[in-house]
Amino acid sequence: MKTIILKVNADRPEKSKIRAAAKIIREGGLVAFPTETVYGLGANALDPKAVRRIFAAKKRPLDNPLIIHIADKADVYWLADKIPKDADKLMDLWPGPLTLVLKASDIIPKETRGGLSTVAIRMPNHKVALALIRESEVPIAAPSANLAGRPSPTTAEHVKQDLDGKIEMILDAGPTRIGVESTVIDLTSESPQILRPGGLTYEELKRILGDVRLHPSAIADRRVNLKYAPSPGMRHKHYSPEAQLIIVEGELNAMINKIQELVGLYRGKGRRVGILATDETQRSYHGAYVVKSLGSREDPSSMARNLFKLLREFDEEKVDIIIAEGVPMKSLGLAVMNRLRKASGFNIVKAN
Ligand code: TXA
Ligand code: MG
Repeated sequence: MKTIILKVNADRPEKSKIRAAAKIIREGGLVAFPTETVYGLGANALDPKAVRRIFAAKKRPLDNPLIIHIADKADVYWLADKIPKDADKLMDLWPGPLTLVLKASDIIPKETRGGLSTVAIRMPNHKVALALIRESEVPIAAPSANLAGRPSPTTAEHVKQDLDGKIEMILDAGPTRIGVESTVIDLTSESPQILRPGGLTYEELKRILGDVRLHPSAIADRRVNLKYAPSPGMRHKHYSPEAQLIIVEGELNAMINKIQELVGLYRGKGRRVGILATDETQRSYHGAYVVKSLGSREDPSSMARNLFKLLREFDEEKVDIIIAEGVPMKSLGLAVMNRLRKASGFNIVKAN
């Protein structure tokens, strides 16, 4: 299959291009499109055959459900059942990087739900995504548009690296603004619970809801053994570059010293070492093959925006080992650390 790549204006999406993409969605095809978080791989959420193609293209385990993207809040009321009142408060934050897990209505195919009785729904804050959903006239199921297990795509080029020849179209509207995926919050338990920290911060959700819990696996620094994973994505390998990834966590100076020690160790073994540092620390290291900065420690949103792109860059530069600094788990730093720890397979070294 030849994948058509269309450049689209992010602020004023060209009608003809959106129409061409929507036609593909309506006919059961796959279109990758930008959202404010990462690029998504879209199909008609109500068409089981189209949804199965998403799983095949991504090589995604069939038990990992998809997020349904909508452009009109009213759609929640026929896609979900028994909607709690917290949902209304949270829907006021839409469009935005927040996904609500609700009880699924009978209309949702089991493929889209990954066999669960719940459904995940969000309204993305991106003109291209919203135009595509409206023009398609169907809700769009869209996981991140990467091969399963790889870092999520924040540019159309990343999508091409993973899915070229497997999908009908990629809409290219430039790099995404936030860079980590949406926050997933479960509203089907007694009190709201964050299953995946993401683009909408825990601090903000606490301010709005008062009562909100973080699922232990969202903040874990080791693999949590889950008898029952409320979010199947928690159990799967994630976000990983090809290179081995080690996270060093601790007080800033101790961390720098530990990383420098590890660079010496691995270099001695003839390994090509990359360091994922920050603006404040990147000049503290010597002897590594390459040092990249995630962004400023004072600006978690910059770190979120750069994370997945940099993980892919290390692979392109054929680094054997990436040693990454831990960053403060505040604001978007929580999502960044969640992704880094998972990407490392919880290969975490504590520096003290
Ligand atoms: O920002 C985002 O959310 C991006 C863009 C494209 O919208 N999408 C995205 O989708 O990250 P995906 O499929 O890569 O991640 C969805 C996560 C998975 O961890 C999945 O297990 C979880 O949401 N999820 C989906 N439906 C669920 C449900 N019914 N209950 C619990 N977790 C669910
Ligand atoms: Mg994903």
